[in-house]
Amino acid sequence: MSAFGFTLTARDGAARRGTLTTAHGTAQTPAFMAVGTAGTVKAMTADQVRATGTEIVLGNTYHLMLRPGSSRVAALGGLHRMMDWPGIILTDSGGFQVMSLAKLRKLDEIGVTFRSHLDGSAHHLTPESSTAIQHDLDATITMAFDECTKFPATPDEAAASMRLSMRWAARSRDAFTPRPGYGQFGIVQGGIYPDLRAESAAALTAIGFEGYAIGGLAVGEGQAAMFETLDATTHLLPATHPRYLMGVGTPDDLLGSIARGVDMFDCVMPTRAGRTGRAYTSRGVFNLRNARFADDPAPLDPGCACTLCTRHSRAYLHHLFRCEEMLGPMLLTGHNLTYYQTLMRGARDAIETGGFAAYAATAREGWTQTDD
Ligand code: GUN
Ligand code: ZN
Repeated sequence: MSAFGFTLTARDGAARRGTLTTAHGTAQTPAFMAVGTAGTVKAMTADQVRATGTEIVLGNTYHLMLRPGSSRVAALGGLHRMMDWPGIILTDSGGFQVMSLAKLRKLDEIGVTFRSHLDGSAHHLTPESSTAIQHDLDATITMAFDECTKFPATPDEAAASMRLSMRWAARSRDAFTPRPGYGQFGIVQGGIYPDLRAESAAALTAIGFEGYAIGGLAVGEGQAAMFETLDATTHLLPATHPRYLMGVGTPDDLLGSIARGVDMFDCVMPTRAGRTGRAYTSRGVFNLRNARFADDPAPLDPGCACTLCTRHSRAYLHHLFRCEEMLGPMLLTGHNLTYYQTLMRGARDAIETGGFAAYAATAREGWTQTDD
């Protein structure tokens, strides 16, 4: 079994090209991870997910602890076996989802108590229990338990929240059982304040993780503030370790963040949009429910290699969404993930030849037909 590792193979400005090696195979970076919250990338079989070029799937501690329960997942042989995804799985630690989904949340030094959004039952999550649950799930990459600082937050609020997350990061690390090929990432917090981001990066580096995530962004601060915060943060993280920007983002966010030294991303956008008829393409975002597609015989994105674009017309996809047929979300999720993965592959190739800035500029020039 391979040891957990990260090898950088090229740089282009601050952009990095690398390979992540794990117990569940390798992933090429910059990497986009498909969101598979409840043990499934919605509307897709594992083989279909793989066919989009996806190498890492993300699971959620919060959802899986409530349903089906982490011991049930463990009894089924872990998340890889349960969902037939032998590849890399990263699990988020739960705090972020508790704060956005659960009811009657109470947060203190120990952790978070909350009531399930499903049946109102009472639960507790701590750095220790979150880490234990992620072990039960058999996550290749475990995330430290953190608080995603709200936005806006005053400097005092952001500092107190970040320092709590750093104490929780130390407890998460103590609770983590190292195994060959498995790793744990710490999460930098600190809002939009560069001095707090620096303090957080230093605290996590002192603890020592296999990778470093940047949290608390894409929470309403806007792209300019997010990029400024990345500019103040990525260079403070160890160059030898992978960097993961959590919950981001649009294709433009990904290109701008890669240029600022980010290696890994996850976001619900391509999969969620795929279920509502929104298509990410090389020409921009299209809403396939729009009547202008009713008689359009063209492939959705002529250059795309996915099943939808090689076998079907825009008019057929429009029809499927108008009839609320299940095949619509299935085909469009496959396409959207393929578009994201193709964009990332292009970014990786461009970094290798020193052409990333030109690649990003050309991609942006293509997004002219955007519906929103
Ligand atoms: N997903 C998006 N942002 C965050 C964050 O700040 N923390 C965690 N754990 N997950 C996230
Ligand atoms: Zn396609």
